[in-house]
Amino acid sequence: MRNLIFDDFDGMSKWVACYMAYKIKKAEPTAENPYVLGLPTGSSPLGVYRELVKLYKEGKVTFKNVVTFNMDEYVGLPEDHPQSYHYFMQDKLFGHVDIPKENINIPNGNAKDLQQECWEYEQKIKKAGGIDLFLGGIGEDGHIAFNEPGSSLSSRTRVKTLTYDTRVNNARFFDGKVEKVPKIALTVGVGTVMDANQVIILVSGIKKARALRKMIEEGVNHMWTSSMLQLHPHGIVVCDEEATMELKVGTVKYFKDIEREALAKLPEV
Ligand code: GLP
Repeated sequence: MRNLIFDDFDGMSKWVACYMAYKIKKAEPTAENPYVLGLPTGSSPLGVYRELVKLYKEGKVTFKNVVTFNMDEYVGLPEDHPQSYHYFMQDKLFGHVDIPKENINIPNGNAKDLQQECWEYEQKIKKAGGIDLFLGGIGEDGHIAFNEPGSSLSSRTRVKTLTYDTRVNNARFFDGKVEKVPKIALTVGVGTVMDANQVIILVSGIKKARALRKMIEEGVNHMWTSSMLQLHPHGIVVCDEEATMELKVGTVKYFKDIEREALAKLPEV
């Protein structure tokens, strides 16, 4: 696992956006052989999406042959609800770039048969040839997508009940009212994320410091589902200084030293 430590949120966002644009361009995707991205919502990817839109507007990247799969969606929120992940993605990324509508996949939290929807989502990923790069964030309890503590580390897309913790954290998006946060969501599994060729996890701010420590310094554990990244052959954790607050000095020094070159310049687009 790599760990890139940037001074701040802007620095990490810029680097990740350039890296993603670089990977898309390098793959020379076509309609028959598209580049497949896994994407998150939340505040962690906001900077990356802002930078990707900028790169697109500067003509440095196109999403014409990019297919996307979002990580999760609340159950029961209308797609045009400002807090639905459908709305979020349109508002923050899809509405500003040239991705064809039919290339966008987000679990349907209003499907009649939710289990069937989850099964079909996995099939769609397979049909697209698997995910090339999965971008994610983590919750304060270390969850990845909505794989709450105790989720099977080999789980696939499924219906998941959210913990009270997660609902309290996400209440900030629902007028601060925890009772307004849906209790159930559809989420890709930890196994679904781990199947991607590459996984990048964004960790920003002091609130995530404990989760970052659990993810990279302690053992693989189903109570901190993002720790599964330790078993991925191409996992990159991208964080800011604040998030490293609970890491050992030696860990921070080690990663800063071995990543000196990567940190010094942006990937070329
Ligand atoms: C939600 C999402 C996760 C996200 C997490 C953290 O629970 N399902 O995918 O990583 O929130 O959100 P934020 O980035 O806003 O801290």
